[in-house]
Amino acid sequence: MFRVGYYQFRLLFGKPEQNCKKIITVLDSVESDLLVLPELALSGYYFANKEEALHFSEDPNNSKNIDSICELAAKKNMHLVLGFVERQQNNCFNSAALIGPNGIEHIYRKIHLFNEEKFIFAEGDIPFKVNTINGVKLGLIVCFDWVFPETIRMLAMQGAQVICQPANLVLTYCQQTMIARSIENRVFIITCNRYGQEIRPQGALKFTGRSQIVAPGGNILHRSAAQREAIYLCDIDPKDANNKFITKYNHLFNDRRVEFYK
Ligand code: ACM
Repeated sequence: MFRVGYYQFRLLFGKPEQNCKKIITVLDSVESDLLVLPELALSGYYFANKEEALHFSEDPNNSKNIDSICELAAKKNMHLVLGFVERQQNNCFNSAALIGPNGIEHIYRKIHLFNEEKFIFAEGDIPFKVNTINGVKLGLIVCFDWVFPETIRMLAMQGAQVICQPANLVLTYCQQTMIARSIENRVFIITCNRYGQEIRPQGALKFTGRSQIVAPGGNILHRSAAQREAIYLCDIDPKDANNKFITKYNHLFNDRRVEFYK
């Protein structure tokens, strides 16, 4: 079995050290193989402009905050998926790092930017990749990637058994949609959202909470409340994601008629 979970919390805009400290304090007492954190979990979300995002960005090769999350992963012998603003020269990406006991194992850069994110972040430029930890195959997406079925399909067809989705959801459809993604790909999906509000000069956003874990076939193993802190952990058998037959004669991948999808 493989223990997975998420930590849904209310993070503070523009307070990366405080948010990082909160993550480390709370997770110090958690035992899990894998734990997913929200999108942009250090900085907050609703940047006024690119300069502000750059100001709160992290260079993963030179970041005290990310180093301390790496130390946590080493101390607890676990893997974490952390959303953060990744700085690269004069650009930033809305990224998710897979961090293990030996440090950063992979960084995914959000490919589909949501709404005003298009004025802040560069579009993700790295292909989808499946990472294996303790024999379990993980795929990463970030929040709004959910609305493009191709994202999870690509990862599932590369063998991903567990999809990790750091999120800052403001729309209300994602959680329901992930049930369909899990049915059509027979994968586990861990969605870690945040809750609370960000009130900024350019407007206010309310995050919808309801983080969840969905099992292959669409069963919701757990869904948290909308506006409350939550840590949820459960044991899953990732091999449940290996059988892609939905009936005896219907295979989700082999039965695709790609010649009609052009
Ligand atoms: C989103 O992609 N953060 C809505």
